[in-house]
Amino acid sequence: MKNFEFCVITDILFGVGQEQHLPEKLKAYGKKILLTYGGGSIKKTGLYDRLKALLNDFEVFELGGIAPNPKIESVRAGAAICKQEGIDIILAVGGGSTIDCSKAIAAAAYYDGDAWDLLLDMSKITKALPVAVVLTIAATGSEMDSVAVISNTETNEKLPLYSPLLLPKIAVLNPENTYTVPPFQTASGAADIMSHVIENYFDREPAFVPDALNEGLLRTVITYTPVALEEPANYEARAQLMWASTLALNSLGSTGKNFAWSCHYIEHELSAFYDVTHGAGLAVLTPSWMRYILSEETVDKFCDYAANVWGFSREEDKFTLANRGIDATEAFFKRIGLPSTLTELGIDDTMFEIMAEKAVRVGFLQNAYVPLDEKDVLRILHMCL
Ligand code: NZQ
Ligand code: ZN
Repeated sequence: MKNFEFCVITDILFGVGQEQHLPEKLKAYGKKILLTYGGGSIKKTGLYDRLKALLNDFEVFELGGIAPNPKIESVRAGAAICKQEGIDIILAVGGGSTIDCSKAIAAAAYYDGDAWDLLLDMSKITKALPVAVVLTIAATGSEMDSVAVISNTETNEKLPLYSPLLLPKIAVLNPENTYTVPPFQTASGAADIMSHVIENYFDREPAFVPDALNEGLLRTVITYTPVALEEPANYEARAQLMWASTLALNSLGSTGKNFAWSCHYIEHELSAFYDVTHGAGLAVLTPSWMRYILSEETVDKFCDYAANVWGFSREEDKFTLANRGIDATEAFFKRIGLPSTLTELGIDDTMFEIMAEKAVRVGFLQNAYVPLDEKDVLRILHMCL
């Protein structure tokens, strides 16, 4: 187990009605709030009205219309409001896209140049406004991590921004706010949670504590996603998924490990060029990546995965057992309604070479759990067609 620092300061308010504590918590940061949200789901569900009523004593400015795979234009627009109005805190209400956009706005509010510069050079982040969150979908873990992922449609880039300054100060996790998440988004969120855990789990460093947690998180998502799909307003299922999404990426699952991810960097290229839903892209890539990296060196880890996550017997031959775990992963994604091929996502091989080059460069995939170069990524992409 490697040395690590674990410092996650987000104040989590989990459960029914926890929004009511927002005013007293937000007061500590000031009076002027920038309320950010996506394409309108919070207006349809009534959450917008409930929050506006709660925020009566604050001066509230708004930035709506933040798109999935949030675009740099929204970051620029939000930063302009923050600078012009002297915003004290950003309240992001939505999923990973709204939260990520808000984190980037928080940093851009203190930067004089163009916001995209921060994505190209994170050392330019020197200060950030505080961000609070009301989460409406279980997926990214952005509610309790220091990452934001922003897209630039002019350059077909989707890049991560990282700074401890971006960690949300407050996160309201009320599972009831996820009852209205449509089935495809529920399933994509589940695949994203699983992918975060899988990326942490498949690592060269032996780390029993985080992997026991990771296996439990995977079993949680496998158990409760079908329940949430069957009964969208099942509180227990939504609650388990929500907390799993937060724990999957709040650094606990990577403590003492190398944090040597693979599929996410390849998926970000799919989103950058084709604007696909992040979790759906991961559901396509993950089983093929697993098959590609399965070898004499990795087979034992795959056996742990197959036995401890999917419950297969260890009496089988190692490679048979490992493949059972991979097949089960693929079948699960299919069962919850996600695509299995890039073709289903409307993606052909036209951009494969450039996507492979960028994934390796941006993601430092030569340092991944199993190091990948451009040829490896190309082969994985072809396996997904
Ligand atoms: O925009 P609205 O109208 O709110 O609708 C959203 C959107 O269409 C809808 N939705 C969310 N909550 C809902 C709801 N619809 C009905 N009822 C609700 N309660 O769901 C759609 C997807 O929302 P989005 O925020 O895009 O989903 P998600 O949370 O999956 O975020 C995806 C983004 O996060 C990035 C992804 O790359 C992608 O850009 N990621 C961020 C990470 C991070 N910050 O650490 C890590 C992840 O790996 C990921 O890369
Ligand atoms: Zn993800």
